[in-house]
Amino acid sequence: MGQPITIKHLKDKKAKGEKFAMLTAYDATLAGICEAAGVDVILVGDSLGMVVQGHATTVPVKVDDMIYHSQAVAKGAPNTVKMVDMPFMSFAYPTQAIDNATRLMQDGLAEIIKIESTVHQAELITELSRNGVPVCAHLGLTPQTIHKLGSYGKRGKDAAEAQQILNDAQALEQAGADMILLECVPAKLAKQVTASVAVPVIGIGAGADVDAQVLVIYDILGMSGYIPSFAKNFLAENDSVVGAVQQFVADVKSGAFPAG
Ligand code: KIV
Repeated sequence: MGQPITIKHLKDKKAKGEKFAMLTAYDATLAGICEAAGVDVILVGDSLGMVVQGHATTVPVKVDDMIYHSQAVAKGAPNTVKMVDMPFMSFAYPTQAIDNATRLMQDGLAEIIKIESTVHQAELITELSRNGVPVCAHLGLTPQTIHKLGSYGKRGKDAAEAQQILNDAQALEQAGADMILLECVPAKLAKQVTASVAVPVIGIGAGADVDAQVLVIYDILGMSGYIPSFAKNFLAENDSVVGAVQQFVADVKSGAFPAG
């Protein structure tokens, strides 16, 4: 059995300019494959609401659902960092957020929680951080707000919104966030954010100049019925699931994925 990867290892990788690889997983079997293939972080994403539960959005996902899936992932991948999403409206006010983060860590065995954020979550992130809860602040496209946004399109395309995302990332790092995740933002903005914060920046649809890449595992296995423009079917070039995941990991770490 190898040594567990820790959040400190991931911060050290950023300092050394080494990229790391993250995939979603929602069950013990795929989590075990991710661990065996060298994935550094498994995200138990609330995308499970769409790809596992079959909902049209992530909005119906409950804290209990996250705990059920993160317990399974923890059994399959004991040595990989487990990041777990705080689902829609589970962090709307401080006491509720702290209770739910506690459940995700104590019952769900999360090692870091992810919160779809703007600067408005800064105080909450400080409070969680002071209490020993590692937080990844998810900025850019925030799918939980789909009914406000109206579409899953790129965020930060105009100068004002790009500046807001950059400011928010810096403020949330100051507030105590241990990582930043940028979803569907222009590559130029992701590069700027990555250079301006000391914590690791994970990208999805955010170009190559970030510290780590994350994708939904069903997308890299060609199981989703459609492959987002920023993803790639790694199973198409491999004859096994573990081979596909290994190639994803190798390509992220070498900088071959995503192609610049
Ligand atoms: O829930 C999820 O899988 C996510 C990723 C798409 C980043 O948040």
